[in-house]
Amino acid sequence: MRTQVGIVGAGPAGLFLAELLRREGIESVILEARDREYVQQRVRAGVLEQGTVDCMARLGLDGRLRREGLVHEGFEILYEGVRHRIDMRALCGRAITVYGQQKVVEDLIDHRLSIGAPLLFEAADVALHGLDTDAPSITFTHEGRAQELRCDFVAGCDGFHGISRRSIPDGVLTTYERVYPYAWLGILAHAAPSNDELIYARTERGLALHSMRSPEISRLYLQVAPDEDLEAWPDERIWAELRARLQTADGDFTLNEGEIFEKGITPMRSFVAEPMRYGRLFLAGDAAHIVPPTGAKGLNVAVSDVQNLSEALAEYYGSGSTAGLDGYSERCLRRVWRVQHFSWFMTQMLHRPADQDPFEERLQRSQLDYVTSSHAAAVSLAENYAGLPRD
Ligand code: APR
Ligand code: PHB
Repeated sequence: MRTQVGIVGAGPAGLFLAELLRREGIESVILEARDREYVQQRVRAGVLEQGTVDCMARLGLDGRLRREGLVHEGFEILYEGVRHRIDMRALCGRAITVYGQQKVVEDLIDHRLSIGAPLLFEAADVALHGLDTDAPSITFTHEGRAQELRCDFVAGCDGFHGISRRSIPDGVLTTYERVYPYAWLGILAHAAPSNDELIYARTERGLALHSMRSPEISRLYLQVAPDEDLEAWPDERIWAELRARLQTADGDFTLNEGEIFEKGITPMRSFVAEPMRYGRLFLAGDAAHIVPPTGAKGLNVAVSDVQNLSEALAEYYGSGSTAGLDGYSERCLRRVWRVQHFSWFMTQMLHRPADQDPFEERLQRSQLDYVTSSHAAAVSLAENYAGLPRD
C-alpha cells in the first residue's frame, strides 16, 4: 500500500487531519489500533472552542453540531458559597459550544467511511520505519495479514500511550511533566442540567464541576484522590458529594438527579514533548502533549495542531516549500504552552490539595476574588477559556 500521509490513530487529531488533507487533495490512510465501537464510545470532554466549531463548519461536518451543540456565552465559578458568572461574550466576544467529543469523533468517522476513504480499525502491531529518510513506512497487521504502508510523511496522532512518540530515538525529545495529586470522578446521568451553564465549584471538600451533554443529560465531576477506587463511590455517595459541593449559601441551586449510566476516573497530568517532529514524523494532539481537564482544552489544542499540519503539508505539496513543515513544531508549541499554562492555572485555582498549606489557600482565594471582580482579570480568563487564535 502507498499513500501520501500515513496517519496513526483515529482520535480527534487523526480524524480531523485526514479530512483537512483530503480537502487539499492530499491522500492519507488512517490506522487505528482499536475497533470502531471502542473509539466511538470513549467518553471524553465536551467543550468546543469557536476555532474548533469553525473548523468543523469549514469541513462541512457541522450539521449535527449546529442542531445539537449548546452555545454557552458564559460559565460560572462558585466559591465560598457564592456564584460568579464569567460573561465570555461580553468580555471577549466569543462563546464555547458544549458538544461531546464522542459526537465529534462519530461525525468524522461516519463521514470518512461514507465517502469510502481509508480508515482501518483494529490495526495491530503498528511500527514506524525510516522516519529519518525520505521514504518512511508503517508496518502493521490487519485482518490477520502483515502489511506495509509506504508514505511521504507519518502523522503521529495516536495519543499519549501511542507508539509514535516512543519511536523517536532517545535524546531527541525534551519532555516536561507535572502529575497532580488529584483525579476527576466523572459521571453521565439521565438528568436535565441543573443550570444553563457550566459551574466550576471550588470548595473545602474539593472541586466539583457541573456540565452537560444535552437538555436531558448531565455531565458532572468530583475531585477525588489520584488512587481513588471507583468501587468506593456508589451512586448515592456521588450525588451526596455533588450536592454538598455545589450548594450555595443562599440555597439558589438545586441539583437534578437521575440514573447514572457512565462512571469513570481520569488522572490529571500536564505533559509536553518537544519538538513535535522527528524527520518525516509529525506528532499532533495527545501524542505530543496532555493537559489536565480543568478548562477542557485537550481536543481543541489537538485540532489546532492538525490545522497547522495540514496547512504545512498543503504548502509542501503545492509549492515544494518545506517552510511550513520546518516551522510546524514551533508554531504549535507557542499555543500548546499557552494552553498548558491556562490549564495548570485553572487546576491550581480550583482544586483543594489534601493538606492545603494556609498560605496557598489564601493565595487561591485572592486569585478567585481577582478573576471575579477585576475586568482585566476576567477578560484574560474569558479569552483563554473561549480559546485564543491559532497564532
Ligand atoms: N496504533 C494505532 N492506533 C493507536 C495506537 C497504535 N499503536 N496507540 C493508540 N492508538 C489510537 C488510540 O486507540 C486512539 O483512538 O490513537 C488514538 C488517539 O486518540 P486520542 O487519545 O483521542 O488522542 P488525540 O486524537 O490526540 O485527541 C486529543 O482527545 O484524548 C482526548 O483528552 C484528549 O481531548 C483530547 C483529545
Ligand atoms: C465536560 O463537559 O466533560 C467538561 C467540561 C469542562 C471541563 C472539563 C470537562 O473543564
